[in-house]
Amino acid sequence: MSPPANDHTNRQAVAVIGAGYVGLPTAATLAHFGHHVVLAEREQSKLAALRAGRMPIVEAGLDELVAGGVAAGNLHFTDSAVDAVAGAAFVFLCVPTPQSADGSADLSYVESAAKEIASSLEPGAIVVNKSTVPVGSANMVEQVIGRPDISVVSNPEFLREGTAVLDSLNPDRIVVGADDARAAAKVGELFSSTRAPLIVTDATTSETIKYASNAFLATKLSFVNALAGLCEEVGADARDVLLGLGYDKRIGFEFLRPGPGWGGSCLPKDTRALLHIASEAGYDFSLLAGAIASNDEQLSRVAAKVETACGGSADGATIAVWGLTFKANTDDRRDSPSLQIAHRLADLGATVQAFDPTVDAETDVPDLHDLQLQADPYAAVAGARVLVVLTEWDEFRWLDFSRVLAAMAEPNIVDARNLLDPAAVRRMGFSYTGIGRQ
Ligand code: UGA
Repeated sequence: MSPPANDHTNRQAVAVIGAGYVGLPTAATLAHFGHHVVLAEREQSKLAALRAGRMPIVEAGLDELVAGGVAAGNLHFTDSAVDAVAGAAFVFLCVPTPQSADGSADLSYVESAAKEIASSLEPGAIVVNKSTVPVGSANMVEQVIGRPDISVVSNPEFLREGTAVLDSLNPDRIVVGADDARAAAKVGELFSSTRAPLIVTDATTSETIKYASNAFLATKLSFVNALAGLCEEVGADARDVLLGLGYDKRIGFEFLRPGPGWGGSCLPKDTRALLHIASEAGYDFSLLAGAIASNDEQLSRVAAKVETACGGSADGATIAVWGLTFKANTDDRRDSPSLQIAHRLADLGATVQAFDPTVDAETDVPDLHDLQLQADPYAAVAGARVLVVLTEWDEFRWLDFSRVLAAMAEPNIVDARNLLDPAAVRRMGFSYTGIGRQ
C-alpha cells in the first residue's frame, strides 16, 4: 500500500455518516489521504467491531487501511452523527438508499440523517451526497437542512465491492456537482492526491452520471450474457467471441464475463431507479428496460441448464451449490443472482446443499432457510446429482475434483461463471455445461 499522502494534502476535518460498503472505505481512504476523519455509525455491533479492529464487511485491504488511519490519529469512530459533524468542514452522507416498491430510491435515511445534523453543522460546512440518490436529491438535502450557509455537493461513488480499497485509492475519475461551483471544487480537492481526472459540474448532471455509469455497465453485461446464449445456439465459443470484442479499444475487456446475471446492491437498484426517473420524465428508455428483462431471463436460463443436467426436472433432486454472494471477494448477498438461482432450485423441489466461504453453516441465517448450508465444498456435493458453480470464488478452482467426483451421485457440473477448465473436468469423467461454451 502506498504511504499516506499527507505531504501533498491540505488537511481537512471530515465527518462520514454511515460505515457501510461505501462509508467505511470512503472514511478510511480520506484518512489515508491525510484528512482528519470522524466516522459515525449508529449500529453498536458494527462500531464495536471497528473499535476492536475487526471489519464489519469482507473487503480486501480494508483492515490495513483502517488500522493505518487509526494509528496515524486520522480516523475516529462515534455512534453519534451530531458529534461527528462538530468541527467538520465536510460531511459525507453515506447512508443506504434502498429500493422502494415502485423501483425508485428510498431517500428516508438520507433525509433523516440530514435532519439530524442540520442544526449542528459548522457555519459554512459542505454536505456531500455520496450515496446513490435520484436526480434532484442535492436540492432536497439543501431544503431539509434549510441553512443558506450550507452547500450540498453531489460526489457519486464508483467503487466496486470486493475491490473497494483499490478503487477508492485509484479512482478512474472524481465527479463533483453543485449549484455552488466553489463548494464542488473544494470537495474535489479532498481527493487531489489521487491525481484522478476531476469533473466539476452541476448537481443534476453529477447525479445522472452515477446512474448512467451503472446502467451502461448493466446493459453491457446483459448484452454479453445474451450473446453467450446466442453462441450456445450457433455453436460459437463465447469466450473467443468476447476476446475478439475486447481487443477493440472502444469496447475493452472489462465487464465482458458472462455469468448467471448481474446483481448486487447497485446495478439492479440503480437500473430500476433510472428507469423510474425516465418514466417520471415521460421518456421511454426501452433499451434499459430490455437490459433488465434480459437479466431476469439469464437467471431462468441458468436454472434451466441445471434442470436439464438433472434429467429434465429438479424436483426431488439433490443439488450442490457453490457460492451465494453476488460476486466473489465480498460477503454481500443483496440481490445476488447466485442466491436467487439457489432459491429457485429449492422452489422447484430440489434439496439444495450450499457452500459459500463467507457463510457460516452453523449460524442461523434467515434468508437461507430453504438451503442446507454446508461447512465445506466437499460436504455440499455429497450425494448430489448436479454441482452448480454460482459465484466465482477462486478457491473453487483449486479443489480436489477427484474427491468431488467420488462424493457425487452423478458427475454433472453446471458452471455459471465459466470458472472451471471444461477439458480438465471432462477428462475426469464429469459432464460439463458452461455459459456460452460447448
Ligand atoms: C457496481 C459498479 O461497478 C461500481 O462502479 C459502483 O460504484 C457500484 O456498483 C455502486 O453503485 O456502488 P458492484 O455492485 O460492487 O459495483 O459490483 P460489480 O463489480 O459492478 O458487479 C456487478 C454484477 O455484475 C455482479 O453480479 C457481477 O458478478 C456481475 N459481473 C461483473 C459479471 O457477471 N461479469 C462481469 O464481467 C462483471
